[in-house]
Amino acid sequence: MIQHLLHINHVSKHFGGNVAVSDVSFSVEDGQIFGLIGPNGAGKTTLFNCITGFYPATSGDIVFGAKKINTLRPDEVCKLGMARTWQRVKPLGSLSVLENVMVGAFAMTNSAKEAEMIAQEQLKTVGLVDYANKSAGALPIGLKKKLELARVLATRPKMLLLDEICGGLNHTETDTILEIIRSIRKKGATVVFIEHDMKAVTSICDRIVVLNSGEKLAEGTPQEITNNPAVITAYLGGGHHA
Ligand SMILES: Nc1ncnc2c1ncn2[C@@H]1O[C@H](COP(=O)(O)OP(=O)(O)O)[C@@H](O)[C@H]1O
Ligand SMILES: [Mg+2]
Repeated sequence: MIQHLLHINHVSKHFGGNVAVSDVSFSVEDGQIFGLIGPNGAGKTTLFNCITGFYPATSGDIVFGAKKINTLRPDEVCKLGMARTWQRVKPLGSLSVLENVMVGAFAMTNSAKEAEMIAQEQLKTVGLVDYANKSAGALPIGLKKKLELARVLATRPKMLLLDEICGGLNHTETDTILEIIRSIRKKGATVVFIEHDMKAVTSICDRIVVLNSGEKLAEGTPQEITNNPAVITAYLGGGHHA
């Protein structure tokens, strides 16, 4: 049976007169890697902020599992099993790599010993074991992105919302992150993936929604999306940087 893990139902978000997200609906199924794409300013990050409790939606419903989460706080949403990464990664620079990941783990446990165990496990998942005691602030961007992934994985999420996790990375670094995402899905998590790099999106996603000026422009398989004339126009005309 197909199970919807996340249901976005006619969601809008206004900032004063600016409609950042306009009447957007779609569903993410359990176990999917789901892509959310669109030109700069399309409303992708704003939608993530509404889903994860950082902004209340102006209207519409957001349902996670069987629970309506519209009015929950970010920490409450996290406890339900949803974790997000930030477009601009900001590790706690004065803490070590391991300690940064432990901060994620402390969302789920009060035991330092358990938090360290979980953190070590996630450093392994992303390939940062050798950097555990290094200062997080000193990491290059490619490793900071891996650290960000480990930090959210340490909350043991059912669903991960990744906001341009491959942004600023070269092809090799991007491929490494995509491999990690595939391994995360294999372990049973569901992933919603905001990404600019069309090649990355179409290579990894089962299904894609395209936002443009806050509205849903298209939804479908990677093949349907790349062949959709409206999508091609929005991308070529939308200041997209490959
Ligand atoms: N906190 C905010 N206050 C006012 N306007 C915002 C805020 N956050 C985002 N916006 C506006 O919402 C629109 C969508 O932005 P955003 O969600 O960041 O787009 P994307 O992530 O697709 O590039 C933009 O016009 C942006 O200026
Ligand atoms: Mg954004």
